Amino acid sequence: MANICVKLNSSIAPASRILGNAVSITSQRNSSWWSDVKMGPPDAILGVTEAFKRDQNPKKINVGVGAYRDDNGKPFVLPSVRTAEERILAKHADHEYAPIVGVPQFWASAIELALGADSQRLKAKHNATVQAISGTGALRIGAAFLSKFWKGNREVYLPAPTWGNHIPIFEHCGLKVNKYRYYDPKTCGLDFKGCLEDIMKIPENSIILLHACAHNPTGVDATPEQWLELCNVIKKKKLYPYLDMAYQGFASGDVDKDATAVRLFEKEGLDFCLAQSFAKNMGLYGQRAGAFSMICSSAEEADRVLSQIKILIRPMYSNPPLHGARIAAEILNDPELKAVWLKDVKGMADRIIDVRAKLKNNLIKLGSSRPWDHITNQIGMFCYSGLTPEQSERLTKDFSVYLTKDGRISMAGVTSKNVEYLAHGMHEVTK
Ligand SMILES: Cc1ncc(COP(=O)(O)O)c(C=O)c1O
Repeated sequence: MANICVKLNSSIAPASRILGNAVSITSQRNSSWWSDVKMGPPDAILGVTEAFKRDQNPKKINVGVGAYRDDNGKPFVLPSVRTAEERILAKHADHEYAPIVGVPQFWASAIELALGADSQRLKAKHNATVQAISGTGALRIGAAFLSKFWKGNREVYLPAPTWGNHIPIFEHCGLKVNKYRYYDPKTCGLDFKGCLEDIMKIPENSIILLHACAHNPTGVDATPEQWLELCNVIKKKKLYPYLDMAYQGFASGDVDKDATAVRLFEKEGLDFCLAQSFAKNMGLYGQRAGAFSMICSSAEEADRVLSQIKILIRPMYSNPPLHGARIAAEILNDPELKAVWLKDVKGMADRIIDVRAKLKNNLIKLGSSRPWDHITNQIGMFCYSGLTPEQSERLTKDFSVYLTKDGRISMAGVTSKNVEYLAHGMHEVTK
């Protein structure tokens, strides 16, 4: 004790100097701790919804946010999800903590949905899988793992453009973010040549992020043949793939077809990270049901990796929420209910495909001379319309159509009732 006192005493002088600094900083600071925190900009996508809510025009349309709406423009609870919820309620389940890795019946069936029940590496237990806080949380766990353990080039290459949140997710974990060409504004399609050229230039042992299906924001996906070529180049260049699959089933209406890229990478023997979200394909947006996996070179490696993932999760959020994972598990583990869900997903995808055709046909009917084939060639929730920022702004100002400035239209917000009005606005601003 005496020793400690002497030690403490000996540090009194510097401590008082520190205290003196604190006093002078306080006096410079006016009165509050946070007076020098600047106002940040609103979130680019959520800000659009705020502006939409304020608009009084009865014809207003929100095609900003990526959440599915039915043909009356209303949020949609999937019939399979309703049934699952009723069953869960009837079970009078408790509200104990989930394990760090989440609900086992959920994450086990999530990775099976991605890789397929016949996956050899799943059977061999090469996967380290955990439940995650939807797709964003899954991406974040992977970024944290890479930040801590990646021994290669600490750069993540993202497609240009990409979902806006990808950039801060990796940057917040201390990884440098770079881009590779993906979208061709001239064709509103895939710039496959540019994409391959750029990937060939990425330094070996870098990380590359790929949208597994229904690329956000462009709705432009590679064909199975192009995926095979991408896979071979990635292998050759010794890049580490990070696959983000937020829309399985939502692109084509078929969960197996939409998993083509993920299953190809698995079969080609690549090790990779995989982020999955059940926000869109089960309509569980606010329930935050997702999964994160690392497909490893052996079961033993997967065990070691999983142990470290758990160590990362524990101080981040301790363990994930139960309800959404229970719903998804109920659906995925009952063949009959799963069949209902597969129909639900197809119904959503088909409505989007149908409304794409209606939008294009209406533009043609109005006499638009611009090419609009990309509206039906693109896939999934978004149409990268090709509207310039100025045209997008005019669409909002003059027609109360709310979209992001990059011209991205969430097709989920388009219905058989508002499609004519949307086409009219798009035609007027592109004349
Ligand atoms: C490409 C992509 N990845 C991940 C996500 C994550 O979504 P969530 O966190 O809602 O599951 C989204 C959502 O819009 C997305 O578009």
